Amino acid sequence: MPKVLPAIFSYEDMKSKWNQDNPDEPYTRRKDLETGLYALDKWVLRVDDEQNAIATVGWKEHGSHTVVGGMLASKKGREIGGNNRALQDAREPQLNQSKPLVAAFGHRDGDNARWISNAKKNGWVFSQDEEFKQVQSALPEAVISDWNSAYPNGNWAIRTIRGKDEFAKCVYSDDVFSEWWSVVKAKPNSGKKISDSQWLMLKEKILDDELPVDRKKYVKYSSLADINKRMVLYYLKLGFARPRRRPEAYNGILEEMLRSSNERYDIEDGN
Ligand SMILES: CC(C)(COP(=O)(O)OP(=O)(O)OC[C@H]1O[C@@H](n2cnc3c(N)ncnc32)[C@H](O)[C@@H]1OP(=O)(O)O)[C@@H](O)C(=O)NCCC(=O)NCCS
Repeated sequence: MPKVLPAIFSYEDMKSKWNQDNPDEPYTRRKDLETGLYALDKWVLRVDDEQNAIATVGWKEHGSHTVVGGMLASKKGREIGGNNRALQDAREPQLNQSKPLVAAFGHRDGDNARWISNAKKNGWVFSQDEEFKQVQSALPEAVISDWNSAYPNGNWAIRTIRGKDEFAKCVYSDDVFSEWWSVVKAKPNSGKKISDSQWLMLKEKILDDELPVDRKKYVKYSSLADINKRMVLYYLKLGFARPRRRPEAYNGILEEMLRSSNERYDIEDGN
């Protein structure tokens, strides 16, 4: 089953893995997009069962917003399909939750009207849209005018960040967590390494309210007070960004989810 790797790649590292896995089909991006307004410095990769790259997407955080783009699927990736959704779901939690997203939409070889209408369904607001005035106020005027000049046809758009509900939806059916969960649970401070896939699973199970299982002691994610939710997300992101700090981040998560840490500790949430 294809998966998005939990690692975050630099542009060079993403290309190097892609090109190694797809020697006949190297990753390409328009030269003029590689620097300046549309330079992207963080990338995620979707791989097939052989762990070969089949699709990728990138982003770059700026002061007021995050630019996203660069999506490409290999021939095999396009046969498999579902790359857009899988990559976006995996990228979303990595993005600064307080900044709007900016992207341009120009499908390389397909039907761009379909590509744009898909984007609109996903919450992207284009300059011709009614809500644009409101959405653009989230960004400095200079950013708006830079993008207007770069895309005079108006095929660029803004989207506010998705809520956690969408964030939580990347659960893969071949996930196994029980063994490592009991190990980590028993010895959270043992310095035992928590792998990328374990961390990804932890994120998914927490956001889907499957973990922690002990509901007498812990409040499920969706019932947490906002501040505790934000802290859980912070620790999850910390674990993605700094793998060595995962045991510490894990302890932080449990602390935030403790009934006694929550204003709503008395809540009935299905224990
Ligand atoms: C963009 C791309 C990665 C999509 O991946 P995919 O796995 O082939 O497509 P998905 O299964 O994820 O399709 C999701 C949506 O993408 C859009 N899409 C996919 N192929 C498309 C095509 N040829 N033309 C227009 N839109 C297309 C559709 O909106 C589709 O949803 P829909 O079928 O409900 O309309 C792939 O088409 C690709 O590599 N294109 C070339 C690079 C490119 O154009 N990137 C985007 C630059 S902005």
